[in-house]
Amino acid sequence: MKTLLVIGIGAGNPDFITLQAIKALNRCDVVFLMDKGPSKDTLIDLRRELCQRHITERPYRLVEARIPERQRGEVDYRASVQALNRDKQHLFEQLINEQLAEGETAAFLVWGDPALYDSTLRILQQILAGGAMQFEYQVIPGITSVQALAAQHKVPLNRIGRSVEITTGRRLAAGQASAADSLVVMLDAEDSFQQLRHQGLDIYWGAYLGTADERLISGRLDEVADEICRVRREARQAHGWIMDTYLLRKPEA
Ligand SMILES: C[S@@+](CC[C@H](N)C(=O)[O-])C[C@H]1O[C@@H](n2cnc3c(N)ncnc32)[C@H](O)[C@@H]1O
Repeated sequence: MKTLLVIGIGAGNPDFITLQAIKALNRCDVVFLMDKGPSKDTLIDLRRELCQRHITERPYRLVEARIPERQRGEVDYRASVQALNRDKQHLFEQLINEQLAEGETAAFLVWGDPALYDSTLRILQQILAGGAMQFEYQVIPGITSVQALAAQHKVPLNRIGRSVEITTGRRLAAGQASAADSLVVMLDAEDSFQQLRHQGLDIYWGAYLGTADERLISGRLDEVADEICRVRREARQAHGWIMDTYLLRKPEA
């Protein structure tokens, strides 16, 4: 039987990696290195560095693959996501078939935690459900960008006894966030926090969390929104990509 380890590597700081993840890395014959888009090189470099630093107990092979990207622009969003998932499934099947021998163990290194806005687990489950391939798999949790954001701003995510919602910039822009009094927003391509101006909210914003390029801004949304828009624009220009996350909420009564 082949074994797959889906390892959360934390969302930016190489020190986010857990002891459990290091032990898992040292069980691997193969490590799959995958990323996409302009952020690819930086994020693959971090994964490579983690392997070099922590895999000390046995030889291993690195296999790099480019993750397919979603078609953007004038296309139906759901259809483009379905097509992307089909392409990703095909790539995963190919890697498991061609790069991993019977009895071997491979790692998928997942940014942050595999349970949060990441398709690796869903794809592996789909492959198994298809019945054409068999393998065992385990999940090793990682530190998410949400935890990194809260830690860097030194804020708890929830108000006492209250709920927190995690959503996407796309849903926020479409007015689809719930009335949760603490709202964490990820995957925001469009400064969607602007939709919530003039509601007396506070924002805790962080980009490139855990890395040398980390940027943090916090304050009353109405007062800092323009600054965040500017910093996002400049950072995107400088790096060619941006990863940011933010917490929005009403100030304590
Ligand atoms: C596809 S999701 C992956 C989330 C990841 N699995 C996690 O646990 O954080 C990518 C989004 O995560 C957030 N993100 C990931 N790493 C980040 C970082 N270092 N700083 C700020 N936001 C980050 C951003 O909102 C980005 O658009």
